[in-house]
Amino acid sequence: MIADIVVGLQHGDEAKGKVTHHLCKDGDYTHVMRFNGGGNAGHTIYHNGQKFVTHYIPAGVFYGITSVIGSGCVLNVKDFFNELEELRKAGIDTSLVKIANNCHLIRNDHLEEDNKDEKIGTTKKGNGPAYRNKYNRTGMLAKDALELEPFLIDLYEELHSSDDVIILCEGAQGFQLDIDWGDYPYVTSSHCIAASALLNGIPPQAVRHVWGVGKVYDTYVGQKDFEPDDPIFSQIRDVGEEYGATTGRSRQCNWLDLDALNRSLKINGATHMVLNKVDVLQKVNRWSLKHLGKLKDFQSQNEMLQYIVSNTPFKDNVSNVMFSGNKHNLSLV
Ligand code: IMP
Ligand code: MG
Repeated sequence: MIADIVVGLQHGDEAKGKVTHHLCKDGDYTHVMRFNGGGNAGHTIYHNGQKFVTHYIPAGVFYGITSVIGSGCVLNVKDFFNELEELRKAGIDTSLVKIANNCHLIRNDHLEEDNKDEKIGTTKKGNGPAYRNKYNRTGMLAKDALELEPFLIDLYEELHSSDDVIILCEGAQGFQLDIDWGDYPYVTSSHCIAASALLNGIPPQAVRHVWGVGKVYDTYVGQKDFEPDDPIFSQIRDVGEEYGATTGRSRQCNWLDLDALNRSLKINGATHMVLNKVDVLQKVNRWSLKHLGKLKDFQSQNEMLQYIVSNTPFKDNVSNVMFSGNKHNLSLV
């Protein structure tokens, strides 16, 4: 088996969907698998000029690749069927969508409970309560839902019956929302780091590439204060269209935190890095980031991007870094 993993390096919303979609097109993947999270994720994908927002179904579906919702995910059955139907209506072949039989379900009582959250600022999709029941051993599995039967697979049989599996593991959320590595309790209830993909039946030695995806600035949605008091961040929000794909909430904005980025790159074991939305800083014409706890300003895009590369583990491996500035494609800047 060969496994590549796509993970978010910040607080989610780094355009992982775009990167996964791009990799699906060019790679020889037999499978694409979502490995964590549930309907809290919103992956915005432009396929043949049409915009899609997926919450569950991995980007492989756009290219006729077996697309698996893994055992690390939690699934709302109704939302899953709605998403499937939307894709079908748009002419996407969904016959290769599969669900791990040991994936857990989000129940109505989970939704009701999550809807009352005021402390974390959750997406209210029932994630926390569903994972709580999973770990409390009082959850419901996908194989307990009759209507899911045609989609169910056993991950062991699916991934280990042949030697030809090349799988792309699609993460949701990001490092700073990881239940252990994020700023607890302002985190999600699953693991969002590369190691989390392995829990879905991927042996460690299968891992080839880890694509860390970030933005050249940072955003966060939730209850804690994140955005400094400076009108530049409203500009970044507007130009960058920083509004949630799942909830429509405004994302708080801040400069890139290079210290946090390095922690994330190292713990994820990122072999490649894509930093998106360079065009947004071009438009607001400000080049700043935080490093070693201080704000640093730069005169030009080049100066800042070079500074980023030389202060990450990629300083001797520049060819594995991509800066992208087009929301539809993975175009270089
Ligand atoms: P939950 O995952 O819905 O429980 O939300 C917990 C925290 O993670 C909240 O701050 C959410 O806004 C944030 N969050 C969850 N999923 C995403 C995502 O896909 N993108 C960005 N933020 C997310
Ligand atoms: Mg998102």
